[in-house]
Amino acid sequence: MIPTQTKPFSPKCFFATLFLSIPFLIFLSQQTFTTTTTSDVLPGLKIRPGYTSYDTYIQKQLKKTLNPKLREVWKTRDWERKINVFTSFFDDLKREKLLKNESKALSIGARVGQEVEALKRVGVSNSIGIDLVPSPPLVIKGDFHHQPFDDDTFDFEFSNVFDHALYPEKFIGEIERTLRVGGVCVLHVAVSRRSDKYSANDLYSIEPLNKLFKRSELVRIRKVDGFGLDTEIVFREKM
Ligand SMILES: *[C@@H]1O[C@H](CO)[C@@H](O)[C@H](O)[C@H]1NC(C)=O
Repeated sequence: MIPTQTKPFSPKCFFATLFLSIPFLIFLSQQTFTTTTTSDVLPGLKIRPGYTSYDTYIQKQLKKTLNPKLREVWKTRDWERKINVFTSFFDDLKREKLLKNESKALSIGARVGQEVEALKRVGVSNSIGIDLVPSPPLVIKGDFHHQPFDDDTFDFEFSNVFDHALYPEKFIGEIERTLRVGGVCVLHVAVSRRSDKYSANDLYSIEPLNKLFKRSELVRIRKVDGFGLDTEIVFREKM
């Protein structure tokens, strides 16, 4: 039972309590802000501020993905040019035996599917892409923070959209969940330059990636020129 109040309501007392609780309320509001970023936990990786909810974040990402002008450019002027560049990246990975014809491959944040088409052209026929907006038949609908696949589905995963992850630990966690043991993940990231206005995080070194890949070992790093992204980093799942 709630005890009944004996004293009459005192406005003076009420406002005094309110006033005294202001510092506490300020403290609380700052707490919720800092817990939504990982920048304290991982030096070298900063989450961009300004996302008040997961929905505002998704809406902003959709704005780029659904932009009709961009989609048209991706499917026409950019199509062959990008496929050629990705084909040469994937050919290199095949020479190093990090990617095989029989690999089951996933491209994360595949837009209209140039990477998936490039995978197929180098002989990896069992390839699929995910993005927030599907682009059949190469790309199905899927959120990289919650991949629409079972555990241990793929032998190879590629992504050049790490900078769009609002929750980098989920982005990488989902890759490790859906990769088989021995599977390879290749990321193209921007380390020495800033990426676009739709990015949700900024990476200042590869160290945070080393920490986020908890069940994988670093295979190699090299400089690349990949559409504004400068570094290719390869991990292999070991347990
Ligand atoms: C892989 O696929 C490509 C393209 O279809 C083909 O040229 C190549 O011979 C295949 N490699 C192997 C090892 O089967």
